[in-house]
Order: sequence, then structure tokens, then C-alpha cells
Amino acid sequence: MQQENSKGAAAASKDYAIGKSKVELRNVSKSYGEEWDEQTVIEDISFELTPGDLTVVVGPSGCGKSTLVNLIAGFERPDSGEILLDGKRVTGPGKDRMVVFQETALMPWQTTYENVVFGPKLRGDMRGKELKDEAERLLAKVGLYEFMHKYPLQLSGGMQRRAELARALINKPSILIMDEPFRGLDAMSRGLMQEFFLRLFEENHRTNLFVTSEIDEAIFLADRLVILSNRPAQVRKVIDIRLPRPRHYSMLNSQEAYDYKREAMSILHDEAMRSFSSTGVSSDFTENYTAQPNA
Ligand SMILES: Nc1ncnc2c1ncn2[C@@H]1O[C@H](COP(=O)(O)OP(=O)(O)OP(=O)(O)O)[C@@H](O)[C@H]1O
Ligand SMILES: [Mg+2]
Repeated sequence: MQQENSKGAAAASKDYAIGKSKVELRNVSKSYGEEWDEQTVIEDISFELTPGDLTVVVGPSGCGKSTLVNLIAGFERPDSGEILLDGKRVTGPGKDRMVVFQETALMPWQTTYENVVFGPKLRGDMRGKELKDEAERLLAKVGLYEFMHKYPLQLSGGMQRRAELARALINKPSILIMDEPFRGLDAMSRGLMQEFFLRLFEENHRTNLFVTSEIDEAIFLADRLVILSNRPAQVRKVIDIRLPRPRHYSMLNSQEAYDYKREAMSILHDEAMRSFSSTGVSSDFTENYTAQPNA
């Protein structure tokens, strides 16, 4: 145990050195479609992922969160503005920015272990014993050591998410990007995954972008909350979440957390109402709903 702990500490300090990058978004805009049918999805967005912080982007469904992820990951290019990673313009994807998506991206025909080693093996970054040791260390860290020879479909939803985390972390990314990774999990598994992920983050404070549409999840995890508007996504507000770390779920019941939630909810609620009204579906509903106390 003693030995395992010191091994873990050494591994953590090794990780510590490699996860401290900074990302700056400067006046980023992105549209899709032809000129006659152009749809602006991201409009003039500027914010930073500060080194070692967990920045959570929260926004209404369909507002453009995944588009933002694709831009930072380099899968897409902005139409205007720029994204800088440690001062250098992002021009494409790189293993320095690993993304865990909202849908599972594990290859079903490969075992969990094979999924985890796939990237480094393909690139030839690591091989042989070094690769095996690192994969096993990460699989143990995410609690899947005993399950490494199982196929993804033999794992529960929460286990699949943890396997994806191991698969991302083996690339030693300087930024970890997570796009609604716990969406679709049942409430219990989601809560457990949030706590598990927090422990992982708090161990080495790797620069992290976490995207969600769930406000409690956002406040529980975040150092900083970036609240987006409806599409086209613009930054409505940035709130520093000063809840102490390590976080515990019970902190969500504190007055401080409640105040953050009220502030974020009122912004998101205004956005939802704006969207609902603009569809012209039912102004009666809108009036009744807004008339409710604490709505
Ligand atoms: N490659 C693309 N081509 C055309 N339109 C796109 C493309 N990618 C996204 N969009 C459009 O951009 C808008 C925002 O989509 P996006 O997936 O970024 O939102 P989101 O906030 O992640 O949604 P969700 O809450 O469902 O995850 C949608 O209207 C979508 O149709
Ligand atoms: Mg999305």
C-alpha cells in the first residue's frame, strides 16, 4: 500500500507538469450553411481557460456548446477571431487537447485495454512495457483494472465514461475537454461520476474545459462558470465559483452554492424564456410561468 501510494504520488507529480496550458478565445465566431441560409452558431465569444483551472461552460440545449468544443479541439476553424493555446494559434487537432464526448467513442470491437492503448500505439509514442504499465496504471486509477479485458458493451455506462477518461489521459493532454460526458447516465451514476471526476481533477489540477447543460453539475465542479446565451451562443456571464476544494456533494446545500445557482438560473431562465417566446408557442404559458414565485 505504502509503495502504491508513493507510486501514485510520483505519477501524479509527473502528470502535474504536463497539464498546465492556457487557452484564449478572442472574438470567436462560427456560422454554418451557405450565404443564403447561413446560421450563426457562435458569436464573438471571448474567454480564457486559465492554467490549472476547471472551467465549466453551461448553456441551453442546442446553443452551440459542442461547436465551441470542436473549435477549441481544432476539429473546426473559426470564421473570425482566434483561439490560442499557450500563445500559439490553434490550426487543427492535436493530442495536447483530448476530448471526451457526450456519446461514447469507445471502439466496441476492442477490449477496454486495447481502447486505452490505441492512440499511443498508433502514433508510436509509447510501446512495450512502458505503454502496458501506463495503461494499467490509468485503468487502476479509474477503477477498471479488473475489467480491462472486457469489451465496452460489457461495461456499465459509468464504467464506459471512466474508460474514456483513461483513454484520454494516456495521451498526457495539456488540456482535457469534456463535452457533457455524463449526459444519459442515471442520476445515481451521474453523481458518482461527478465525485470521481472531481477527485481526479483535484489530484493534479489539469487545465480542464467541462461542458454541461446541468446547473448543479456546473457549480459542483467549476472554478469558473461561463454562461452562454441561446444560439447564437454569446457569453452572458462569467462567475468565479469560490467553493472550497476538495469539494463534497453536501456543499451544494450551502448558502454560497445556492446564491451561485440562483444567479446562474436567473440568466439561463431568461434565455429559456426568450427562446420560448420567440417560437411564439404560447405567451400564456410564458406569463403564467414567470408569474410563479421563485420560477
Ligand atoms: N457541422 C455542422 N453543420 C451545420 N450545422 C451545424 C454543424 N454543427 C452544429 N451545427 C448546428 O449548430 C447548432 C448548435 O449545435 P451544437 O451541437 O454545437 O449545440 P449544443 O449546445 O452542443 O447542443 P446539445 O445541447 O444538443 O449538445 C445546431 O443548430 C446545429 O444544427
Ligand atoms: Mg452538444
